[in-house]
This record gives sequence, C-alpha cells and structure tokens, in this order.
Amino acid sequence: MRVVVVAGARPNFVKIAPLMHVFRRHRHVKTLLVHTGQHYARELSAVFFRDLEIPTPDINLRVGSASHAVQTAEVMKRFEPVVRRFRPDVVVVVGDVNSTLACALTAAKLGIPVAHVEAGLRSFDRTMPEEINRVLTDALSDFLFATEPSAVRNLRREGISAAKINLVGNIMVDALRRFLPKARRSGVLRKLGLAEDERSRVAAHYAVLTLHRPSNVDHPRTLAGILRAVARLGEHCPVVFPVHPRTRKQAAAAGLDKLLRGRGIRVVAPLGYLEFLYLMSQARLVLTDSGGIQEETTALGIPCLTLRANTERPITVTEGTNRIVGTDPDRIWRAGMAVLNARRVRGRVPRLWDGKTAQRIVSVLRAALR
Ligand code: UD1
Repeated sequence: MRVVVVAGARPNFVKIAPLMHVFRRHRHVKTLLVHTGQHYARELSAVFFRDLEIPTPDINLRVGSASHAVQTAEVMKRFEPVVRRFRPDVVVVVGDVNSTLACALTAAKLGIPVAHVEAGLRSFDRTMPEEINRVLTDALSDFLFATEPSAVRNLRREGISAAKINLVGNIMVDALRRFLPKARRSGVLRKLGLAEDERSRVAAHYAVLTLHRPSNVDHPRTLAGILRAVARLGEHCPVVFPVHPRTRKQAAAAGLDKLLRGRGIRVVAPLGYLEFLYLMSQARLVLTDSGGIQEETTALGIPCLTLRANTERPITVTEGTNRIVGTDPDRIWRAGMAVLNARRVRGRVPRLWDGKTAQRIVSVLRAALR
C-alpha cells in the first residue's frame, strides 16, 4: 500500500504523529510524508516534529503564508506533481486547515482516493474558514474517519454513504496518551515559574489562555473585550497566555499591547507540544478558541471555556468538560469565576477516545486497499 500523508499547520502535526507511528510498524506500507509549509516558524512546526517524534517530511512544499485563495492554490500547484510521481493508493489528510482541502481536491481530481481524518465536524458557521474546508474535504473523501457520533450524523445528512464513514475515535488522544509521561518531564512549570518542583503533587494554581481565531483576534473590540475579562480573572488566578503569531500581530496593530502586559496575564511565546500538554494537564482552567484544545481538555478532565459562539465538537460539551461561553466579557468572567470556585470537575472521556484510533484507521485502509 502506498500512502501520502499530508500535514500543513500546527494542529495537523498532532494528528499525523500517531498515524506515522502505526504506519511505520507495517512493512507493506510505503508512506510519503508531505509538509505543505503552511506553518513554517520553528515554534509552530519543527518543535512539533521533534516533540511528537514524527519523521522528517519527505517533501516540504514551502507554501508559507498568503491569502486563502493564494495559499490554497499554491498548495494544489505544488502538490499535484508529487502525487503524480508517487502514485499513491490513498492520500490521507487531517483536520480542517487550508492545506487539508487543497490536497484533498488535488488528489480527488487525479482520481486518487482521499481519506479524511476528523471528518464530519460542523460548526454550521460558514464565516469560519475551517467550516468551508471541512464541508468540501468531506464531499471529496472516500474514507471518512469520525471522532464522535454527531459527525457521523452530519455526514449522513449531507448524503454521504454510510459505507464510507467509520467512527474511530479521536486520534489526538492517541498522541496525548503516548506523550503525557514524557510531557511530565518537560520542565515547563519550573520554566514559567509556576512550580518549584515539576513532580510535586500540589495542584498548581493557574489558568491557560489560547486565542487565534480570526473572528476573535482580527476584531480589535472583540480581542480587547476578551483580554479585559481574562485580566480580571487573572487577579484571582494567574493566566498563562502562549501567544500565536497572528494574535501578536493583530494585538500590536490594534494598539492592545498594554492589555497583554497587564498584571494577571503572563504572555509567553508559543509552546511546544510536550510543554503545552503538561501545562494544560495541571491547569485549574483553560480558556480557548481552538478546536483541538476543547478535545484535549476533555481527554484530560480539565475544565475548558470556549470563547466562541459555537463548537463543531459538541461531545466535549455533552460528555466532556467544555462549556461554550462566547466572547461577552462579563459572561467570560462569570464562567471563569464559577470554575475557579467549583469543587468538582464534571465530564467523562467519550467512547473510543482510547489511544487506539490510528490503529483503527490503518486497519480500515489496509482492508480496503490491499
Ligand atoms: C491556521 C488554520 C487554523 C488553525 C491554525 C492553528 C487555516 C485557514 N487556518 O490558522 O484552522 O487552527 O492554523 O495555528 O488553515 N504565521 C507565522 N508563522 C507561521 C505561520 C503563520 O508567523 O509559521 C503568521 C503569518 O503572519 C500568517 C498568520 O500567522 O499570515 C496566519 O497564518 P495562517 O496559516 O494563514 O493561519 P493561522 O491563523 O495560523
């Protein structure tokens, strides 16, 4: 079996790692790992390959940053000859970034089967670029691997045949389970001055914030409101904020740097996978607009407040530790204080989020393509 595996941006790397680990164990599978270069900064890319023990990509398309149309088109232009040359039996794409759609479309036009890992998630919000990527990638895919039952229902509603859909669980949980012991040794709490001894069992008293969605960070009023609410929470519990390059750029352009230097907020550069995983695993509370972090906090049993109006991952709310709070500053503050004052964390880990998702995916592909 000849497989092209595609990754382009930070959240993709977490999803391809478990797949590459399983593929490597199968002698009859030949993989070609393609990095599109959508994310190129060391802290968003190389660090993740190192932390997640992903082999160096066979090919880097080096597309870099650009508008949506240009970035998508560049990936397609550069990916097409790679697929023609390698002649894979299947192209595996993950997640919902521009590289995901670009490579799915390229492969589909060449008549190569496409496998989409994390299929069927829907926010039903077409202003979100990722939603467009999800809908189109799924429409083009031959193998649709879903993380939760709602995704299967969404795909069926869109007329996708049940024979193409497999509920396999959450591949990020494979990575999380494998690397949590190593993450404990990352030294991140000491590095950030949050604990003297990484291994002491004393519950650390801090929250974590991540923010990068255009709907939040590209609008100065929304961004300012969120940062003010978080700064207020920071008076009760320090908030560590690893800042995404997009957010740093937008905050500077909107003259909001001062808010980032407030007393309760501790701004740091983006962290690697292991450091961030351990930071999250010990936090009292995580505030985020990321999709993946909603799932990782559910897997870890850490309370999460999602700073968006919706989620494409509803199981994190119905079963997990997630709550959707939107971007209203008062609501964020009240929800945050409620978590900090609560005695217990509610939530359980969804079915099939068990660390064996990559194995299930590879079994399905091998059975179909041998
Ligand atoms: C992308 C994905 C988003 C994902 C996020 C995770 C799309 C449409 N968006 O958003 O779904 O949640 O990655 O991080 O695919 N930049 C750097 N260094 C880099 C890459 C980007 O500084 O290595 C800066 C550039 O200024 C760039 C901006 O970040 O213009 C945005 O990068 P881009 O890849 O377009 O989107 P993200 O916001 O990172």
